[in-house]
Amino acid sequence: MCGIFAYTGSKEALPILLDGLTSLEYRGYDSAGIYISGADAVKSVGAVENLKKKSMEHLHGTSGIAHLRWATHGEPTEVNAHPHHDTAQQVWVVHNGIIENFKELRESLQATGAQFLSSTDTEVVAHLIARHINSGQSFEEAVTTALREVRGTYGIVVSYALEPDKIIAARLGAPVVVGLGDGENFIASDPSPILRHTKDVLYLFDREIAVITPTSHSIRTLESVPVLREKETIDWEVEQAQKGGYDHFMLKEIMEGPEVVINTVRGRCIEDTGLARLGGLESVAEKLRDIKRINIVGCGSAYYAGLVGEYMLEEYAGIPTEVEIGSEFRYRKPIIDSETLMLAVTQSGETADTLEAIREGKRKGALTLGIVNTVGSTIARETDAGIYNHAGPEIGVASTKAFISQLTAFALLTLFLGRQRGISISTGKEIIEEINRLPEKIAYILETKDRIREVARKYAHVRDFLYMGRKYNYPIALEGALKLKEVSYIHAEGYGAGEMKHGPLAMIDENFPTLAIALNDSVYEKVVSNIQEVKARRGPVVAIATEGNTDVADLADDVLYIPETLEMLSPILSIVPLQLFAYYIAVERGFNVDRPRNLAKSVTVE
Ligand code: G6P
Repeated sequence: MCGIFAYTGSKEALPILLDGLTSLEYRGYDSAGIYISGADAVKSVGAVENLKKKSMEHLHGTSGIAHLRWATHGEPTEVNAHPHHDTAQQVWVVHNGIIENFKELRESLQATGAQFLSSTDTEVVAHLIARHINSGQSFEEAVTTALREVRGTYGIVVSYALEPDKIIAARLGAPVVVGLGDGENFIASDPSPILRHTKDVLYLFDREIAVITPTSHSIRTLESVPVLREKETIDWEVEQAQKGGYDHFMLKEIMEGPEVVINTVRGRCIEDTGLARLGGLESVAEKLRDIKRINIVGCGSAYYAGLVGEYMLEEYAGIPTEVEIGSEFRYRKPIIDSETLMLAVTQSGETADTLEAIREGKRKGALTLGIVNTVGSTIARETDAGIYNHAGPEIGVASTKAFISQLTAFALLTLFLGRQRGISISTGKEIIEEINRLPEKIAYILETKDRIREVARKYAHVRDFLYMGRKYNYPIALEGALKLKEVSYIHAEGYGAGEMKHGPLAMIDENFPTLAIALNDSVYEKVVSNIQEVKARRGPVVAIATEGNTDVADLADDVLYIPETLEMLSPILSIVPLQLFAYYIAVERGFNVDRPRNLAKSVTVE
């Protein structure tokens, strides 16, 4: 996610940049840094406040670049904080995104004498640009040539000590916006740091480069074709800009679903051989072959993601798997040995109960892994290896995009362990093909959000809600009910649909609705019978069904459709309407969905 901000004008750049970074902090951060063109840089770990405490008397100048880092490659340390520079400290770069071929590029640059300081992917870009400048290209040509050589995604900003007033930015897959002021211009990853200076902006498109000076701006493509773009005037306030124009972070984060899956999967699937390439597991790949059991631990939504993971891992990798909430695991006497894999699932990487469970596993000799979103977090550091989600920071307290990413990471892990144990190439390929189709399918569901809102309004004032699903979608019933509880304060319970007649049916009447996940899968007919049981008690039913299934529509009061996919991946789609449903109900009831009462985003106490 990272935040980028750059300024060129006639005022002192430092206070403007610091102020801009503060308004980008909502994007998440683990370190920050500023380079004042032609002067020097300052960096720190943690929040912008820490950066402000550093000595900065020497940082005078009227242009500069700044960055807030949310780590993807390399631990959150000062050395890894941006801006990064070339060996001669002339070219300085801040970057949001991932340079996929950074290892090859780094080796080739080192072979010709470049000295690298950090373990980031970004640093190669500074050296690459410097290499081209040293071979006679202009600043602009050198940036263009370098960007043609990198593979991956970037929103990038470059400053060059010998042309301190000029700042160059480019975009491929990560947003860049240019702010147009009077005798001053700006670049940022979103409009929030620009808005207090000017409301006039230009958005860069992919494969475009912008060059700004205090009094000029120009855009061209990576192929050097000039682009004429009309400026836009933004009338948002800063907070609205931070939410990307959405009313709440929760909605923004749900809407990020397609991008989140793309980021979780990027570079990790080998299509031809049906394999998963998980760099974070390379060091333990051989040990993983000998694992006989898996214990998954997590809390809240992460625990439910683990339950879906259990179905995937047992069905495709054939490994006996148990899932438990951290707070229970740590106080019973779990049977763990050196053939056990302990897997922590956690967005923050800091949840106390999950952390203690992992420590207990370690003490008993288990191999420990994490599916973690926050790079460098305690659980990421204390586990032997792991898979980072790359979902970007999640601000809404109720987890949405991180959950989708956790399910996606489980699909990748299942592929990885399954292919080690004999799932065929063709099944591997089939899973990958379907994973690759998920982003467009999620986007399709998101387009139906008005319909979901309409149904949500109808049920917004009920007192209770029952959610039911079976097999892969049983945990989704639990997670859907949790979302509703968290943000709307409606009493909601998730149940395995087969359990209805063992208790919950007694509660059903015309005022007690049920949400049923009834997809065209191996348990479809069973769920349909369970819906009939509810209808026979006059219970209203909202169904999540597979696109094109009209039978469910005949039975249920309201139907929300999702596209067809492999059964093991269906939770990644079925959760999307449930997240939106909970969101719209909470909005209708007038609650602060981003900050539900009594709840915290990261629970670092027992
Ligand atoms: C809190 C959050 C949940 C989250 C849970 C686990 O309760 O509100 O959204 O699922 O903690 O957090 P973790 O960071 O370990 O995933």
